[in-house]
Amino acid sequence: MAEKNYADKYSMYDLIAKKRDGGRLEQAELAFWLRSMLDGSVPDYQTAAMLMAIFWRGLDEAETFALTEEIVASGEQLDLRGLAGVTADKHSTGGVGDKTTLIAMPLAAACGLKIAKMSGRSLGKTGGTADKLASVPGFRLDLPEAELLQQVAEVGLAVVAQNKNLTPADKRLYALRDLTATVDSLPLIAASVMSKKIAAGAQVIVLDVKYGSGAFMPDVASAIKLAQLMVKLGQSCGRRVTAVLSSMSTPLGAAVGNALEVAEAAEILRQPECAPVSAELRRLCVVLAGEMLYLGGLAVSRADGWRQAEAALQEGRGWRKLLQFLQAQGGDTAALEAGSLAQAEYVLPIEAAQSGYLAAADAAQVAEIVQFLGAGRERVEDEIDYQVGVRFQKPAGAWVDQGETLLEIYASSLLRAEAAERELRSILRIVAEPPQLEPLIWGLVDERGAARPWAELTAEQ
Ligand code: URA
Repeated sequence: MAEKNYADKYSMYDLIAKKRDGGRLEQAELAFWLRSMLDGSVPDYQTAAMLMAIFWRGLDEAETFALTEEIVASGEQLDLRGLAGVTADKHSTGGVGDKTTLIAMPLAAACGLKIAKMSGRSLGKTGGTADKLASVPGFRLDLPEAELLQQVAEVGLAVVAQNKNLTPADKRLYALRDLTATVDSLPLIAASVMSKKIAAGAQVIVLDVKYGSGAFMPDVASAIKLAQLMVKLGQSCGRRVTAVLSSMSTPLGAAVGNALEVAEAAEILRQPECAPVSAELRRLCVVLAGEMLYLGGLAVSRADGWRQAEAALQEGRGWRKLLQFLQAQGGDTAALEAGSLAQAEYVLPIEAAQSGYLAAADAAQVAEIVQFLGAGRERVEDEIDYQVGVRFQKPAGAWVDQGETLLEIYASSLLRAEAAERELRSILRIVAEPPQLEPLIWGLVDERGAARPWAELTAEQ
């Protein structure tokens, strides 16, 4: 009898039932599922059912590796092997006010790494890196591959929107996960993130895995598990990977909102010292850039990596690299250089009602408010308002006098500004005693998968 053809060999119904009952999926079965999903022979309702079965039953390590490989195989891969030098990438699992790419990448490129970064237009509450960059007039996110590679060779850094031909299976799976409450699954997150990073071609990948109210992972323990799985996935595909673990229980830095975040990134890169409200964000970016340098072999130790990144910042090389890269992609940087990129119709300050210490604001609550102002999107087709958001003037834990400005609301309608003001007043708390603040950086999952608290890492350097 003739061998059954691929599509006849498996039944999607049977595969769903197998996973529902706790069975293991073979690589060929996963390949059948993804191919059939993409060619339309498996309908979305069966993929949705499979995702829910995976959500409850999980995937073991071998299944997660196989799924990652099959997602990579579902599309093209970016070939960076023709670039001279070490290619590096970074990925944050996402958060509120997360503009680390805009700071850490120019620093790493200024120190000699070659970076071709793909960034998402996020469905999140506050916009992805691609949305932030779209707030720079003229900036092009759609460079063709040859232009992308040429820019990386010449400038050291290019950031483009996710190429539609890379990991198409992830795109479809993610859209369905988003609609079926199956995003928060460790193996599905790991396969989704790492397939994109592997397809994007860099040799060195530094992950920034977030935990807390504004992140996918609720706590350090679950973030460590996700980081260990992703590091192992990346290493098994021949990449050098580590993961920094950082808190996302309160917004990162001063600004939340697209143009406001680009402006904050520029301020940090432009000055050797930064405002206290941006200091922890600045430190995280130096650590991320330093880690990329160390993993890429351009620094002899982690401490050497941090020193090099810090020097690039102090000497203005990171700032010049940011301008060079934005301009190379058509960005008009005049407003950014003049400090006037973020311009909203209504700027409403919120002042301290009493003197005391400012408690940390909850990241998820701030994200809701910023989305209400128009900075994020709920559906892919939603328009983003680049100019709206909030900007904290004081860091959590700072002493504030009655009447001092705590933050400013940037809005395009007075009605929304006032509604946001009411919400923010209800979540900003001033307390009599200095609040206990969680450190921003917990530590690192290293190349061997060991979870290393920050104190241990710094003591060893
Ligand atoms: N980011 C991704 O790219 N995929 C996920 O599943 C979650 C976060």
